Amino acid sequence: MQQKTTLNATSQFHKDVYKGLSDFPKHLSSKYFYDARGDKLFQEIMAMPEYYLTNCEYRILDLYKDEICNEFFKGSKEFDLIELGAGDGKKTKILLKHLAVREIPFQYIPIDISQNALNQLESSIKNELPTVNVKALQGTYFETLEQLCSLQHKRKVIMFLGSNIGNLLHPQAVEFLMSIQQLMGEDDLFFIGFDQKKHPKTILDAYNDASGITERFNKNLLVRINKELDANFDLDKFIHWEVYDPETGTAKSYLVAKEKQTVYINEIDLTVSFEAWESIHTEISQKYDDQVVSWLADKAGMRISKIFSDENKLYKNYILKK
Ligand code: TRP
Repeated sequence: MQQKTTLNATSQFHKDVYKGLSDFPKHLSSKYFYDARGDKLFQEIMAMPEYYLTNCEYRILDLYKDEICNEFFKGSKEFDLIELGAGDGKKTKILLKHLAVREIPFQYIPIDISQNALNQLESSIKNELPTVNVKALQGTYFETLEQLCSLQHKRKVIMFLGSNIGNLLHPQAVEFLMSIQQLMGEDDLFFIGFDQKKHPKTILDAYNDASGITERFNKNLLVRINKELDANFDLDKFIHWEVYDPETGTAKSYLVAKEKQTVYINEIDLTVSFEAWESIHTEISQKYDDQVVSWLADKAGMRISKIFSDENKLYKNYILKK
């Protein structure tokens, strides 16, 4: 069984790399950043001073924890606090701790694709917050959520932090929100972070740090292809490049070839030719304002119920309802 999963996952990676590097313009999916090395680099990104997103969201949760917990605990019944893609849970623990101190009855259900991440999260919560009832679920967001909803009928608060929704184009974001909406009851809440439009320089710095961590993170895609698909990308022949369009609010990450070259990917028997300065698009990180969030919510059959912001309005967390 284990082997089958690995094989399927591998063949999806094979297919996506084949398609992305055969297309014009070339692209690779950002979901492949996150192997063990990529996870570690992303944690380094979150700790960089330039990557304001994490600090802002941490600050919002800390500043407004009392009000947020009141919203979560409307009424007096126990609820499920379901988190999609919990990561190391550093930010979530602010809320978990506050709920525990106030002796509010709830169960914390983190959902993640990585069993390894869930194990670490679960054991750190058991150590730091022993009274919190945790039930980690491994799997993809929607399959796992659907299963959970068919088994359990408690009131639900679903959380999606880190502005991870920004990695989706608007039509996909609407689809994502619609799938959440369909699983929500009338009293349920969706608590979600949206990074905001701001000075373009601040955004560019967050995605193009001076110390080169972001560059290593972006190039991890090539490292993985070299390692897992037996390819010969020369990392020094590519640069990390970031652009931000203030009109659409879209930040885009690229790998750009510094010279004409060919790369051979043995496992998929693909020769990839690059012209000098040809690009591979790897990620979008969409930035929002209240109007755009309201438009997305509306398209998905939801509405904004509350907005929490940091002092400088760099980042906001929204409570969305059906
Ligand atoms: N999801 C993160 C974001 O969009 C991932 C990320 C951070 C990222 N820095 C990056 C992706 C640089 C590509 C390049 O904020």
